[in-house]
Amino acid sequence: MLASIRRGARVSIAAHSQIPAVASRFATVTTTWRCLRLSRGGGITARSAVFREIAAFVENVETVGGGFRRTYGSEPCSTRFARGLARERLFFEIPMTEIVLSARDVTKIYRMGEVDVHALRGVTLELHAGELLVLLGASGSGKSTLLNILGGLDTPTSGRVTYQDHDLTEAGDEALTRYRREHVGFVFQFYNLIPSLTARENVALVTELADDPMSPSEALELVGLKERQDHFPAQLSGGEQQRVAIARAVAKRPDLLLCDEPTGALDYKTGVKVLEVIAKVNRELGTSTAIITHNAPVAQMAQRVVSLHDGLIQSEVTNDHPIAAGEIRW
Ligand SMILES: Nc1ncnc2c1ncn2[C@@H]1O[C@H](COP(=O)(O)OP(=O)(O)OP(=O)(O)O)[C@@H](O)[C@H]1O
Ligand SMILES: [Mg+2]
Repeated sequence: MLASIRRGARVSIAAHSQIPAVASRFATVTTTWRCLRLSRGGGITARSAVFREIAAFVENVETVGGGFRRTYGSEPCSTRFARGLARERLFFEIPMTEIVLSARDVTKIYRMGEVDVHALRGVTLELHAGELLVLLGASGSGKSTLLNILGGLDTPTSGRVTYQDHDLTEAGDEALTRYRREHVGFVFQFYNLIPSLTARENVALVTELADDPMSPSEALELVGLKERQDHFPAQLSGGEQQRVAIARAVAKRPDLLLCDEPTGALDYKTGVKVLEVIAKVNRELGTSTAIITHNAPVAQMAQRVVSLHDGLIQSEVTNDHPIAAGEIRW
């Protein structure tokens, strides 16, 4: 996770504060910067290795140069103090411009006998570190095709897809499998849980394969289902099943979370709850997140909204004031 904070990147650190004036000042800063919050003690990111890494990073921060700003409330603070804070609570704000995933001139043609279906006609799109992106578009516009290509489930007919420094279009099956396993979490409209396994066992299927996963209980707690760990899918509501699917997708701490119509099968109230969980994962784990939907109001929670039409990007809009998922109405 911290790999995305490169030394020399423009980073600013501020102490978390309960004082409203400080908090609001800080909030102003975070409207233009992505914020990755790491908190010690009880939180999902409370891992001492991570904190050691932060402390080391803070010690080196003076060498970063002009782009670094360090504040505690409104006061600049000393390195030693900042180091002390590293053991408590810190905000790392990651510039939105760091590109994690990029698609260039991507096309996809499905050959159906005599007929060619042009699902994507030349799409160029970037996903930035820690951002929450919504992909809007009518049925058949190419959303799932694009998401599957970004997630390494499918390959484009032409064009290039890169994840950090890796060219996915040149990767073989094995490399794509590794990319998906190590870096991507998927959430689909239908939850794809295994009916004969409990919520915890469904999540454990993934954590057993991952390098540095959360425990299944930790992941289920993150999505608010700690009390339902031993339920089988049939003993869970649709929204709860989808939250188990989200826990399964994020338990391996993926860099990317790709969601294809995650609320498509849910009623309004349950759908909002699922979106709140996705936003929480994005915020607390700093996971770069793309949500596909044909439900326009959902776009209000995104920092960036990309609309697809007939295999092409029709518009791309930055949203300076995303609203909380709980405030969305449809
Ligand atoms: N495996 C396939 N073989 C042939 N054509 C396909 C295949 N998958 C998708 N298509 C076609 O490609 C186009 C884009 O499909 P895609 O599934 O990406 O749309 P979508 O935007 O996700 O739609 P929806 O909102 O209905 O899920 C459609 O015309 C579809 O019929
Ligand atoms: Mg689709």
